[in-house]
Amino acid sequence: MRLLGSGGSSTTLPLRMLVILTLTILFCGSVDSCLYNPIFLYPPEIIGEYGRYAFLNCSSESLDYNDIFLTVKGQTIDKEPYKNYVGHLIKLDDWNIDAKCSVHINDTHKCYTDVDITVYKSPGVDLFVKRKDATGERMQWELQCDIFNVAPVQNLTVRWYKNDHLIRTNSFPGTTKAAVNESSLLRVNISREENAALFRCEAQLNMRSRSLPAAVSQTINISANEVPTARDVTTAHGSFNLTSEAETTPPPEFVEANTVSHRLNMPKPENFTGINCSATEDDESATLNYTLCVGDTTKAHPPEATCDTLKKALRITPPEMVVRYGDSVVLNCSVDDPELILVSWETDYGSHEEINPSTSTLTIKKVESWILKPICFAVSTNGFQCTWEPVITVYKTPDSVSVTAVDPGPMIEGKEYQLRCNIQSVAPVNKLRVKWYRGDECLHTDPKNSSLLKPQNETSFWTFPLERGDNGSTFRCEAELQLGPELSPRTSSAPYTVLVHYKPSFKRCPDRHTVVENTFRISQLQCETDGYPPPSVKWYHPSQKPTDLNKMLTRTDSGLYRASVSNSIGNYSIFVDITVEYPPSFNCKTRYEAKMNGELKTPCEPEGSPPPTITWLKNGAEVFSTRHLTKEHSGNYTLKATNKHGTAQHTFYLEILYPPEFNQGNTSEEIIPGQNMTLDCSAEGNPEPETHWNFTSAENLHMATVGRHKIMTITRATSTNAGHYICVASNKLGRVTRSVLLIEMGKTSDGPLSGSVLWIIICSIFLTLLLVFLVVLFFYKKRKRGKYNVVKNQEPSQIPMINITAAANP
Ligand SMILES: *[C@@H]1O[C@H](CO)[C@@H](O)[C@H](O)[C@H]1NC(C)=O
Ligand SMILES: *[C@@H]1O[C@H](CO)[C@@H](O)[C@H](O)[C@H]1NC(C)=O
Ligand SMILES: *[C@@H]1O[C@H](CO)[C@@H](O)[C@H](O)[C@H]1NC(C)=O
Ligand SMILES: *[C@@H]1O[C@H](CO)[C@@H](O)[C@H](O)[C@H]1NC(C)=O
Ligand SMILES: *[C@@H]1O[C@H](CO)[C@@H](O)[C@H](O)[C@H]1NC(C)=O
Ligand SMILES: *[C@@H]1O[C@H](CO)[C@@H](O)[C@H](O)[C@H]1NC(C)=O
Ligand SMILES: *[C@@H]1O[C@H](CO)[C@@H](O)[C@H](O)[C@H]1NC(C)=O
Ligand SMILES: *[C@@H]1O[C@H](CO)[C@@H](O)[C@H](O)[C@H]1NC(C)=O
Ligand SMILES: *[C@@H]1O[C@H](CO)[C@@H](O)[C@H](O)[C@H]1NC(C)=O
Ligand SMILES: *[C@@H]1O[C@H](CO)[C@@H](O)[C@H](O)[C@H]1NC(C)=O
Ligand SMILES: *[C@@H]1O[C@H](CO)[C@@H](O)[C@H](O)[C@H]1NC(C)=O
Ligand SMILES: *[C@@H]1O[C@H](CO)[C@@H](O)[C@H](O)[C@H]1NC(C)=O
Repeated sequence: MRLLGSGGSSTTLPLRMLVILTLTILFCGSVDSCLYNPIFLYPPEIIGEYGRYAFLNCSSESLDYNDIFLTVKGQTIDKEPYKNYVGHLIKLDDWNIDAKCSVHINDTHKCYTDVDITVYKSPGVDLFVKRKDATGERMQWELQCDIFNVAPVQNLTVRWYKNDHLIRTNSFPGTTKAAVNESSLLRVNISREENAALFRCEAQLNMRSRSLPAAVSQTINISANEVPTARDVTTAHGSFNLTSEAETTPPPEFVEANTVSHRLNMPKPENFTGINCSATEDDESATLNYTLCVGDTTKAHPPEATCDTLKKALRITPPEMVVRYGDSVVLNCSVDDPELILVSWETDYGSHEEINPSTSTLTIKKVESWILKPICFAVSTNGFQCTWEPVITVYKTPDSVSVTAVDPGPMIEGKEYQLRCNIQSVAPVNKLRVKWYRGDECLHTDPKNSSLLKPQNETSFWTFPLERGDNGSTFRCEAELQLGPELSPRTSSAPYTVLVHYKPSFKRCPDRHTVVENTFRISQLQCETDGYPPPSVKWYHPSQKPTDLNKMLTRTDSGLYRASVSNSIGNYSIFVDITVEYPPSFNCKTRYEAKMNGELKTPCEPEGSPPPTITWLKNGAEVFSTRHLTKEHSGNYTLKATNKHGTAQHTFYLEILYPPEFNQGNTSEEIIPGQNMTLDCSAEGNPEPETHWNFTSAENLHMATVGRHKIMTITRATSTNAGHYICVASNKLGRVTRSVLLIEMGKTSDGPLSGSVLWIIICSIFLTLLLVFLVVLFFYKKRKRGKYNVVKNQEPSQIPMINITAAANP
């Protein structure tokens, strides 16, 4: 099953899919995973002759698929890697060829389309006489047309022609696809009035999109003269060789009074009552039994025995003629025979003039009758009167020839349409051939058949399937009167332009397009559309809003554009990825900060498309990336951004921040009682650190700030000022402390020092005891269980991590 989605607006797509899915489940009872079939087959169907090859090309309207492959006669043909289609040459060596194209968009969306393959075989034909029977004035013939080796038989049409007029059409219902043999029978009655009849049959295969040339049989000439006619008898005199006019082999034999002969002695017409004849021709014996009658003998012309000789001397010029209605006619009848008394014309039209006894001229100034049958007669000395009739055809070219459509509605691709050719007032119709043309190519000839001689209105129909390639082609019909080898006036209709309506599509449009800012409008995109009526195109910005085609694209206009074509038959969408490129530019501050030990990183990204490459410059020299920034890295930097559309520069001051640092470590000082003491608390750092002293307050302590130094003054120091003084420095990156220990004079070396010696002795004794205990324990356990190795777990070393940020200074 194939479902076609319009591929339209993405907003309603999920809903539509749901509806389609629900319908699919309801009607089919099974879920078809193909919601929108993107398969494109070229050609859309294959019609080819048995034994030949046909190329099939399958591609996907969308290139976004996982897999595309063909299955032909059970064999799978995969896509070649660098192609966007899968093509295969199929040998048409089977009457039933299964082929399908599959596209797997993804795991759930799998589509396939069966390829319609028709294998045909052009037939051979053979025509022969199967039987013939004679009854009274008629002779019945049975003709058989054998058509062999034809496929498919349901598309076969067999046409029978009598004297180039189509008299019968046969078709063959059936479902067989393989080649078969068929035959068609035709029974015809040939009356004796007919001079001769030419029969042929044609076998033609009619495929939807084209008609193959017809196979034409040989022509069988059935002569009505094979048997004598009553007329022969009335015009015959005395001994008359009936066989002389028969063209059969062997010649028919006539039985008269039980005597078989090829000759027949005719009695005088007055006494003639009829004659029985029989003819034996070939194995397929047909008994011809005719009763020949002269009819009303009172109307019989005077003895005509001499007409034979007169006829030989007769000259009618012209013997046959074709004249346009309204034109003039001049006919000469002359008989060159010494026995002759008079030659003249017998007619209701025009005037005749006897120039001399042996010549008469008939002049009709203006032919105003459709049936002209003047009779030339000659009278001989013995009173015989003979007559002759020239054959005159009066014709008239059509007043108008026009083509109209039978169905006025719009012509839609894939349907069949019928055009009608209206021919007004043409005569004679039996000489008319209607020819259908597309452009200059003759498509079909429609012979017309009617015995009416007066002007008639005639129509001819031409049915054809509409293909989009027919759009704009012109059809016309031509009325041709086949009056003679050099006279066949033609009247053509005005061309009828066929406008085939079909679904729009894009003929050519890029998938992606890269342009430079402010130089390009959507209208400049090379996207050609196809479809009739000419489709309207709408472009949608990536934001889904309709786009102004003449707006210059700016950097904000990059994205996936949707172009939608629509006409009254349908609509179709494609996507074009448009990238708008522009030169680099900076929108950055003039000052940035970075932490010490951090990495040199671009503090602000330049804009630009394609993304620009960045180089760092310091004092005109290129700087390569630095992993550990130090105080010395502060300074003016220039960022240079370059892409193919230009270069931009930006200079800024980079400030390296670092935590506070002291110049000295922890110190201790002795208090000299009565002396003034000053303690300085200062540190370096960026930003400049805040410092203060942490101490136990006392009356003689005084604090002063000089620059970034916090100076503590102890006026006339005493032993009470002894203790720890902590200098604290901090900025946003850290906090450090340093202590100054003030010690009383004299106690300096004793107190804490002797205390620490005592501690060292106590600790040594304890450690020795512990060691002895462990050794004893070790030997005790070894003796008991064997040897152990004790491995101490290593602790992971702590690596200080410093976060690098570029803080903006307002
Ligand atoms: C097959 O069809 C694709 C898409 O329509 C086209 O690009 C390709 O040229 C075709 N290949 C052949 C061999 O016709
Ligand atoms: C498969 O493709 C169809 C059509 O492009 C899409 O609607 C569907 O969401 C896809 N399914 C998965 C599982 O990707
Ligand atoms: C059709 O006729 C031909 C020739 O007489 C013969 O060779 C062929 O086998 C026939 N085919 C069928 C299907 O009968
Ligand atoms: C031929 O003539 C016979 C006898 O007159 C008649 O039965 C038959 O229908 C005619 N056939 C055709 C095709 O006219
Ligand atoms: C053959 O004839 C059948 C029945 O008339 C028709 O449906 C089919 O389209 C024809 N096949 C082709 C290839 O024209
Ligand atoms: C008829 O046939 C005979 C013998 O073949 C021939 O001599 C004669 O001239 C023929 N008559 C006519 C009128 O053809
Ligand atoms: C024709 O018939 C008439 C009377 O029946 C007879 O007198 C005459 O002799 C016949 N003519 C011929 C040529 O047989
Ligand atoms: C020919 O037809 C006639 C009249 O219909 C009949 O009397 C005669 O027997 C027929 N002859 C033959 C040979 O069939
Ligand atoms: C032919 O058509 C014209 C115009 O429709 C009409 O006037 C005329 O009578 C028609 N002639 C015949 C013979 O039907
Ligand atoms: C950095 O550039 C500014 C402005 O150009 C200038 O005033 C300043 O002196 C420069 N500083 C250094 C360290 O070069
Ligand atoms: C200590 O400082 C005080 C107050 O500034 C001052 O008066 C005194 O003379 C100073 N003493 C010494 C020894 O400098
Ligand atoms: C000063 O030091 C004492 C103890 O050493 C501590 O508890 C206190 O928090 C410190 N004060 C400041 C402001 O650093």
